[in-house]
Amino acid sequence: MTEQVSITKDTAPIGDEQPLLQVTDLQVEFRTDAGRAYAVDGVSFSIAAGEILGVVGESGSGKSVTAMSILGLVPSPPGRIAGGSIVLQGQELVGASERTLRKLRGSAVGVIFQDPMTALNPVQRVGRQIAEGIRIHRGLSKDKALERAVELLALVGVPQPELRARQYPHEFSGGMRQRAMIAMAIANDPALLIADEPTTALDVTIQAQVLDVIRHSQQETGAATIFITHDLGVVAELAERVMVMYGGRVMETGRVSTIFRQPRHPYTAGLLASLPSLTRDDAELTPIPGNPPSILAKVKGCPFQPRCVIGRDRDICAAERPPLLEVGTDHLSACHFPDEVGASAPEQQVAPDDSEVRS
Ligand SMILES: Nc1ncnc2c1ncn2[C@@H]1O[C@H](COP(=O)(O)OP(=O)(O)OP(=O)(O)O)[C@@H](O)[C@H]1O
Ligand SMILES: [Mg+2]
Repeated sequence: MTEQVSITKDTAPIGDEQPLLQVTDLQVEFRTDAGRAYAVDGVSFSIAAGEILGVVGESGSGKSVTAMSILGLVPSPPGRIAGGSIVLQGQELVGASERTLRKLRGSAVGVIFQDPMTALNPVQRVGRQIAEGIRIHRGLSKDKALERAVELLALVGVPQPELRARQYPHEFSGGMRQRAMIAMAIANDPALLIADEPTTALDVTIQAQVLDVIRHSQQETGAATIFITHDLGVVAELAERVMVMYGGRVMETGRVSTIFRQPRHPYTAGLLASLPSLTRDDAELTPIPGNPPSILAKVKGCPFQPRCVIGRDRDICAAERPPLLEVGTDHLSACHFPDEVGASAPEQQVAPDDSEVRS
């Protein structure tokens, strides 16, 4: 049945010591008309089996490019992974063959994009498409795979799944299409799910439903999940850990309950302070004064320095890259002055542990 990927002796088993995914010093560049763009500039993070990691940051901060790198989907040219390492279940993905990466997508790694039509084939029946992925990766018969596809559609809350399986994507509403993509993403029991703004294109009531489906699917499969979003309310609700990105780098990462209460990076503090309330429907990131950095030059110091209340007038912040260092238990910050952060962030603005919080 399931094709077993052989584990060689020198591949360490996934235990407590080894994370499911370890990204180290990832660098991704694009060639553009204006020159080289440093989209991801030394990103490191890890995710444990079964864990949900929320990834936040302003538009252009490198969230999607980081996700695409894991999937081996950085368009090349113009892009390329210029350095670093991505190890999934003990296997190095940087430099891995297209065949290896293709095998991974849809099996060990499931992906949910913002626009389901990027994943769905418009001229193939929905059930067939889901079944196809199952057949390829698991070697099931056509009938068995189709049966499983119908089960999956039921699991993600598509009503009348047998009937729906025979329909085409255009016969599905936006929310239903997104459910179909989720079914496809979890079809082969992935160890890692990557969701890149999966609800952004949906209207608010559907968003909440689709989020519930993702949460439910995550619980069913136990897949570790990277959840990219602009919505800090969703992070508070869904994720255990959060990674805050800016200018292609990780600014801060750690437990949601810690970071939302006591950010130790001024950019995170700014994001949290810009939220009127997480209980409001429009709990979107509102911009901090100033402009995002240009990625057309390598930033020597901290990319947030020109906009930072702490670093604006400090030479070291402009000149020296702040390393991502431990500032507490399971809490890292890339700031030269983490101890000066937080005094101004009103506590009542965030309540990640409050089960009443709904976005
Ligand atoms: N194909 C490409 N060619 C050139 N530059 C690109 C390409 N894809 C991404 N970039 C650049 O890389 C940077 C990071 O982009 P990315 O899509 O990862 O941002 P993001 O954090 O996902 O933003 P958003 O929240 O808007 O989705 C941006 O400056 C973007 O313009
Ligand atoms: Mg993006």
